[in-house]
Amino acid sequence: MAAEKWVFMVTAQTPTNIAVIKYWGKRDEVRILPVNDSISVTLDPDHLCTVTTVSVSPAFDRDRMWLNGKEISLSGSRYQNCLREIRSRAGDVEDKEKGIKIVKKDWEKLNLHIASHNNFPTAAGLASSAAGFACLVFSLAKLMNVDEDLSHLSAIARQGSGSACRSLFGGFVKWKMGSREDGSDSVAVQLEDEKHWHELVIIIAVVSSQQKETSSTSGMRESVETSLLLQHRAKEVVPKRVLQMEEAIKNRDFASLTQLSCADSNQFHAVCLDTSPPIFYMNDTSHRIISLVEKWNRSEGTPQVAYTFDAGPNAVLIARNRKVAVQLLQGLLYYFPPKSDTDMRSYVVGDTSILKEAG
Ligand code: ADP
Ligand code: DP6
Ligand code: CO
Repeated sequence: MAAEKWVFMVTAQTPTNIAVIKYWGKRDEVRILPVNDSISVTLDPDHLCTVTTVSVSPAFDRDRMWLNGKEISLSGSRYQNCLREIRSRAGDVEDKEKGIKIVKKDWEKLNLHIASHNNFPTAAGLASSAAGFACLVFSLAKLMNVDEDLSHLSAIARQGSGSACRSLFGGFVKWKMGSREDGSDSVAVQLEDEKHWHELVIIIAVVSSQQKETSSTSGMRESVETSLLLQHRAKEVVPKRVLQMEEAIKNRDFASLTQLSCADSNQFHAVCLDTSPPIFYMNDTSHRIISLVEKWNRSEGTPQVAYTFDAGPNAVLIARNRKVAVQLLQGLLYYFPPKSDTDMRSYVVGDTSILKEAG
């Protein structure tokens, strides 16, 4: 085979993660360093995920990327930072069968083609940037034989999108804000693995799969610049809440998980309202879902379902077990009946929707 003809490729699949204690606000926009710690749950990789194939060939004349089948520019600093950090750690790669040998210094000259697909709405408040950048960094690290642990890779994924650092681990994950100026201690750590609290069932009610008007990046920048509530939240509220959430997760204390995650989601959306001009991520359907869950939890005496909403109108509902999850799905179908159903897993909640079960 002529030297120019070979292509070497790696494919990876990475799940998204949903924060139960939210990251909202940066202290350093370039390195992506947050104003507070955050905690998330990583979803089952077979449900909401990104699949990315990265390939390298001497025939490629420049780095290129396609997202959901459409070519996108890699010129932005987030993509450039991730590519630079991974390339600088690349190792030797050899495939004897194909007669391919790439040594460390070759990676500086070789160009990449990257194709990535999200199997769920992109930029709609379901953390596509988290699954997307985690998958990009992970697949590149495999392709280039990077010898770093997941914690170091999380610090690279963080520079693509903050929430991405948490998607490199399964189960419950904490992103430590860190204190170093260079961000080297702003990394994700696994609190508990996916088996620890396997009774939980996560249901995503897709209220709208439309792209949101305000991206997370610009929304949180405006909140940092204008919201006094954000300052109070980051300094006074979240540090205590993070400790309480760690305890709740460790002890599988569903009542505390519910109280903390609902309160944190509501405070995050209050910060958005406290931003000038205000940002509205939730809509009427989101509010109706909150009321439904709140009423149900109160009528049962003990919490059955926790909710959290990211930067979008879509509900992430955590049922305490399978039995409750079935009742919850029945309730959602009753109050938000499907308009037309061609797909068994598609139900209408608001304008468009899919209800997916993960976990
Ligand atoms: P979300 O709530 O979906 O995370 P964001 O506004 O945080 O929305 O981020 C959306 C952006 O993340 C997209 O416009 C794109 O730049 C990036 N992104 C999404 N999916 C991927 C992917 N699979 N690979 C690389 N980047 C992605
Ligand atoms: C509401 O990680 O998408 O989902 O770091 O600017 O890419 P950038 O923002 P992003 O923000 C996520 C915000 C959130 C809460 C969370 O995931 O913790
Ligand atoms: Co995002």
